[in-house]
Formats: sequence, structure tokens, C-alpha cells
Amino acid sequence: MLGNFKYSNPTRLYFGDESMQFLLEELKAYGPTVLLTYGGGSIKRNGIYDQVVQILQQAGKRIVELSGVMPNPTVEKLREGAELARTSGADLILAVGGGSTIDYAKGVSVAAYFDGDAWETFYKQQQNPAADARILPVGAILTMVGTGSEMNGGSVITNHAEGLKIGKVFDERVMPRFSVLNPRFTFSLPKYQMTAGFFDIMSHLMEQYFSNDDDNTSDYLNEGLMRSLISSSLRAVENPEDYEARSNIMWTATWALNTLLKCAKTQDWMVHMIGQAIGAITDATHGMTLSAVSLPYYRYVSQFGLPKFARWAQTVWGVNGEGKTQEQIAREGIDALEAWMRQIGVVLHSAELGVSESNIEAIANGVILLPTGYHMLSREEVVQIIRQSM
Ligand code: NZQ
Ligand code: ZN
Repeated sequence: MLGNFKYSNPTRLYFGDESMQFLLEELKAYGPTVLLTYGGGSIKRNGIYDQVVQILQQAGKRIVELSGVMPNPTVEKLREGAELARTSGADLILAVGGGSTIDYAKGVSVAAYFDGDAWETFYKQQQNPAADARILPVGAILTMVGTGSEMNGGSVITNHAEGLKIGKVFDERVMPRFSVLNPRFTFSLPKYQMTAGFFDIMSHLMEQYFSNDDDNTSDYLNEGLMRSLISSSLRAVENPEDYEARSNIMWTATWALNTLLKCAKTQDWMVHMIGQAIGAITDATHGMTLSAVSLPYYRYVSQFGLPKFARWAQTVWGVNGEGKTQEQIAREGIDALEAWMRQIGVVLHSAELGVSESNIEAIANGVILLPTGYHMLSREEVVQIIRQSM
């Protein structure tokens, strides 16, 4: 392990079937007004909303509701939330939902008292809030597993008018103060969302794994998480109410993107850059934008990082390397990835998400090119990969 890094993570987690019992105590640390933010209504149908409201009332909180957070939250919704957070005098933003709602809460937390255009400053220009900025605390109750937003500073906002979907990784001040993780809360997810989340986790792991050549403990941790994900995802697809499998996956997702695995890693993230550009134009489900482009991407870039791809094929997918070249082993690893993707049933073609010859250039325009993986893509290579993904 050769790099230098800083590591700390301030998010307190409550995990398990009875984790909601800790919410009452946790809420005592915050002032009286809670901005309760959630999505399109799934929490009302599955009963989570009633549980949360009951605990908030028990804690004597004044509840201000901010509902209707859409998947891939928009800049317009961000502005609406910032205004409400400020005018209502919110002391805590409590996000109940998946990555979209939690990312959104983080955006609102920095935008509420920011005297400027939050989209322009934090997302487009990637600036950090000033040292003396007033940032509202965020808490989360997770209902959809995949993004890792429950324990990181990531916040992804979409601007449809500009054709851009941009993630900002905020510092510790914006990371959730606490997150409640109850695997049972994820049972009501439609299969499409569940498996999109599984692929999002795998993608986060691969994006961090496929970079650098040194022997790094982070990569061994990463391989273990990939193996756990593969095993539990296959069980969960068979039986979505397999608590043990869903609970392993929830914990894996958190560790996949909570700042640990990236230690001393430059990290790739090009699958996410292409996936987000597709999302900006099509509004497709995040995990599926990643699954649609991953196979052409990895089949192409593996030639630039063969030793790592060969190691991954053997340790994660159990490929037998005897008598084979690194290239053959790597190829078999990616074939095994494809077989797993087919088993869990994720989208393999971006045309299914709305990608076509007519929008391929607009998508390519929105792809941020990063130099941190095994190969820096050119714009032409991006277009080629998107075309192959169709
Ligand atoms: O809006 P509701 O009605 O709640 O429905 C949601 C939504 O339609 C539904 N859902 C969530 N929990 C449910 C449920 N339905 C039934 N039962 C439940 N228990 O699922 C749908 C998708 O939810 P969403 O929050 O959009 O999914 P996800 O967690 O995948 O979040 C996606 C967003 O996170 C960003 C993505 O770009 C995207 O905008 N990301 C955030 C990251 C981060 N913070 O670090 C990193 C990721 O790479 C990702 O980019
Ligand atoms: Zn992701």
C-alpha cells in the first residue's frame, strides 16, 4: 500500500431488524423542527412512513414534510427544498428512502443557507462549502440498497435543461450524522430496483478495485465484499425475503462506498461517468445505466490492466488460471461477470434505456473523462463503448 490518505467517517449506524428503536434516542440531539423528506410514496404503502412519524411525534418534534423526491433528483427540486428548509427553520433533515432521497437531503443541507446558486457552485464547479458555512444536519432511514449514500458525502443532482447529471462528494460536514439500516425495509422493493441496486454495489466495488498496481489491503477487502455480494445476490433473487441475504447485501453496499475502500486508490469511475451521462439524457435507473455499459467497457479496458483483471477473475470468480495466459484468465473473469448479471437479470443493452444513434453524441458530451483508471478514454472511445452497449 503506497499512497497517503486521511480516513475518518462520522456517520453513526443503527443496523438490523430492530434498528428503528434507536431513532427516538438519536433524535434528542437535534432541535424541534424536522424536515421529513421522502420520495414518491413507497414509504406510505409499506408502512415505514407511519413508523417514522410515530417516533417523531413521540420525540415531540414538529414535522415539516418535503415529499416527491424523484429518482435522480433534479436541480429544480433542490431549489424548492432549500427554500423550505430555510423558511421552516429546520433543525434536522430526515431522509427516508434510497440514494435519491438521501443525496437530495445532503444537497438541501448545503443549499438552504447558501447565498448563491448551489448547482453552479457545488456541482458544476465542484467547490466545497466555506469553512464557516451553515450546513443543516442530515439523518437517514434507508429503504433501498445500493448507492452507499447512507454513509458517504455523495450527492448526485440532475439538470435536464443542461443535459447534465453531476455528483459532488461533500466532506464530513455533509455526511449523514446517523443512518438507520433495517434490511426488512428493502423487502418491498420491485425486483427491477432491487437488482439495479445489486449492480450498483458491484460497480462501486469494481470502480475502486481496477486502479493502481501496488499490493493494497483495500483490494483484499474489496474482493471479500464482491464474493459476499455474488453469493447473497443469487439467494435474494431466488427469494427476495431471505433476510440473511438482504442483510448481507445492505451491509456490503454500505462498505462498498463509505470511503474505506478508496484508501490509497486513484479509482476508475468511468462506468459511472458514462452511466450518469446516460441518466442525464434518459432519466434511466442508475444501476441499470451501469450494467448496460459495463461489459463493453471492461472488455475494452482490461487489456490495459491485465494482471489485476486476471487476479480478480481467479479470486472473485474462481476462474482456474492453470496453463492460461493473463488475457484468457481476464476474459473468463468478465464472462463470469456477464453470467452473474444474466442470473440476477440486469439490463445488458443501453437501447432498452433509451440510448440511440440520435442521442449518442449528446450523451458523449456529458461524459467527464477521468485519468485515474488503467486507461484514460478518449471521446471517440467513449462513443465506441456506448455504441457497443446498445
Ligand atoms: O420514490 P419512492 O416512492 O420512495 O420509490 C423509490 C424509487 O422509485 C423506490 N423505493 C425505494 N425504496 C423502496 C422503494 N420502493 C418500494 N419499497 C422500498 N423499500 O425505488 C426507486 C429508486 O429509488 P432511488 O432512491 O432513486 O434509488 P437509488 O438508491 O438507486 O438512488 C439513485 C440515486 O443515487 C445516485 C444516483 O445517481 C441516483 O441519482 N447515486 C448516489 C451515490 C452516492 N451518494 O454516493 C453514488 C451512486 O453511484 C449514485 O450515483
Ligand atoms: Zn453508483
